[in-house]
Amino acid sequence: MSDYSLAPGSIRPRRLRSSPAIRRLVSEHRLHAADLVLPMFVKETLTEPSELQGMPGVFQHTLDSLVTAAREAADAGVGGLMLFGIPAVRDEIGSQAWAPDGILNRAITAVSEAVGDRTVVMADLCLDEFTSHGHCGVLAADGSVDNDATLNRYAEMAVAQARAGAAVLGLSGMMDGQVAAVRHALDTAGFTDVIVLGYTAKYSSAFYGPFREAVESQLQGDRRTYQQDPANGREAMRELELDLAEGADIVMVKPGLPYLDVLAEVAQASPVPVWSYQISGEYAMVEFAARAGAIDRMPAILETLVALKRAGADAILTYWATEVASVLERRR
Ligand code: PBG
Repeated sequence: MSDYSLAPGSIRPRRLRSSPAIRRLVSEHRLHAADLVLPMFVKETLTEPSELQGMPGVFQHTLDSLVTAAREAADAGVGGLMLFGIPAVRDEIGSQAWAPDGILNRAITAVSEAVGDRTVVMADLCLDEFTSHGHCGVLAADGSVDNDATLNRYAEMAVAQARAGAAVLGLSGMMDGQVAAVRHALDTAGFTDVIVLGYTAKYSSAFYGPFREAVESQLQGDRRTYQQDPANGREAMRELELDLAEGADIVMVKPGLPYLDVLAEVAQASPVPVWSYQISGEYAMVEFAARAGAIDRMPAILETLVALKRAGADAILTYWATEVASVLERRR
């Protein structure tokens, strides 16, 4: 009998790293343009697109420039678009959110007509861009965010967005019961096919900073009474259970990189697709570090995205969606 025991040094993981071809073949996770969703901003009062200081390369759009950028994203093969609106006028209850001629609702229709079936048009469903106080809900007399009164507003907003042509509604407000309230409103109005994306775990994050510039947020204070405490991971599983029971079609974990552990746990447990939102501050960190010469920009971007896939994201919302989709196409 020969002795087949391995000599020291016989097991060499480097074999599978030895050439670009073998590395490509054994790669466990791949990025596809179809897995990327581009968040986009449209501002009612603009006459020219305006680049954001905190997010170089990202623009507040006019309705026209939004449609052009949406077409470019669709041409690049991006899987979806997530639209955010900045209205000319804000009020206490955020009524431009459900006004049929509100900027976001007009944008949904214009973009849907422009891209047709080539990519999926989604809308942010939250009041913070529309309220004068910048909170994600309406306020009670004592100034606190009134959960159940907000659900009625979300229901109206959902029907308006569905009527405008949105295929997916992104419920980012973190009110209890929001998925059930929106599902019920959609079904009652006959929009049984409109997809509900529940922001299952959304943390109260310092990395939303540049986004608040993008939507010109009026917020005083913070969102800690409704967004989750960054210290809590287990709580995300309870939010997942609730969103599933309420009928969420897709669930989200947000932000991305600082919450890979939460994403991995949710992805293990979820029977529905799990998405991740790589947020404005994550974008800014890479862009400004690259500008300072500290990191190599595109490899860093691709590494952040594949990290989110490895943790379990089925799709990723990222401000780099169009650019990365083009890079992936060129590398094929
Ligand atoms: C709320 C909302 C926020 C983001 C998306 N939807 C901001 C917030 O909770 O303050 C942040 C996205 C980003 O930072 O890129 N409507």
